[in-house]
Amino acid sequence: MTKSTRAASNALLTWYDRERRSLPWRAEPGQPPDPYHVWLSEIMLQQTTVATVKAYFVKFLGRWPTVGALAAAPQEQVLKEWAGLGYYARARNLHKCAGVVARNHGGNFPQTEQALRTLPGIGDYTAAAIAAIAYGVPAVVVDSNIERVVSRLFRISDMLPAAKKPIKAATATITPPERPGDFAQAMMDLGASVCTPRAPKCSLCPLKPYCAATKAGDMETYPVKQPKKLRPTRRAISFWLIHGDHILLERRADKGLLGGMPGLFSTPWVERADFPAPIEWGSAAPARFDWEMAGGVAKHTFTHFHLETRLVIAKAPSRLNVENGFWIPLEEVAEIGLPTAFTKIVQLAPYSHSID
Ligand code: ADE
Ligand code: SF4
Repeated sequence: MTKSTRAASNALLTWYDRERRSLPWRAEPGQPPDPYHVWLSEIMLQQTTVATVKAYFVKFLGRWPTVGALAAAPQEQVLKEWAGLGYYARARNLHKCAGVVARNHGGNFPQTEQALRTLPGIGDYTAAAIAAIAYGVPAVVVDSNIERVVSRLFRISDMLPAAKKPIKAATATITPPERPGDFAQAMMDLGASVCTPRAPKCSLCPLKPYCAATKAGDMETYPVKQPKKLRPTRRAISFWLIHGDHILLERRADKGLLGGMPGLFSTPWVERADFPAPIEWGSAAPARFDWEMAGGVAKHTFTHFHLETRLVIAKAPSRLNVENGFWIPLEEVAEIGLPTAFTKIVQLAPYSHSID
């Protein structure tokens, strides 16, 4: 930053008044924000793009218009609406948090960062974002877009994640006491549309007069990141057990990556070069049958690994009882809210043309 920080934040806010994205969770200019909308959107946006979140946000709000309504819903219904968004611990914490706000806070979200941070699923970033956007607290909000903009403005050359500290401190110096929520969202919009990871459009940028990186011409150097680690590949077998027009699914235990979600019974996901052989399936198989291998491999990428799965198929003589298992009609598989990893595996099955 070269000139006054106040002039910089003013220039950004003026740009925002003209260019702001109209998003379903944003209050119209001059209207008071709804903290429930702000919270719900911020949880959804934690690891998911704006484009994907829009439809989910509208769907959730239509079904549960208040935090009290969301708190009163069964967790299973919340997980079902969340299906496809990924990171399902977010959905479980979302539901827990709604319960705490409804029961312990009279349905009102707390207004300070410190109090917000005590709630399930709300960390430093989300607490700051809610305090600033919903309540006008001049909290210092840093998401990955803002990280990029600020590291360029100040040419912060520390490598992430160590750079987070100086980036936060630098963001604090430019966060204005008025309109902190608009300021944060303006920085996000700028990062999304102007100060992009590749080829930032500095000529369109309201912060250009204040930006050290554009002056030096090395914008794309920032933020400085560690080289990406390669993702390992894990492999598994999933079990497609049919009886008549019913299929056996599993309700997964309430922890881990896909915790609480429905899925197919599967072997553990193990980092290995080949697929687990029948002798290794052990207790993962819901029963002993003549399992037949379907063609194809389903591939899904999680944050830290790739998953490759093959499907084996058997016919059951009855709808047998299996612990954590439940039978549903085939045509309902598409509506049960499977996580995307399992939707792909299901597509290996015969008759799955009706399942998207
Ligand atoms: N990403 C996280 N929060 C956001 C918001 N309020 N607007 C746009 N993108 C966001
Ligand atoms: Fe980003 Fe360029 Fe604007 Fe600097 S001038 S903040 S590098 S878009």
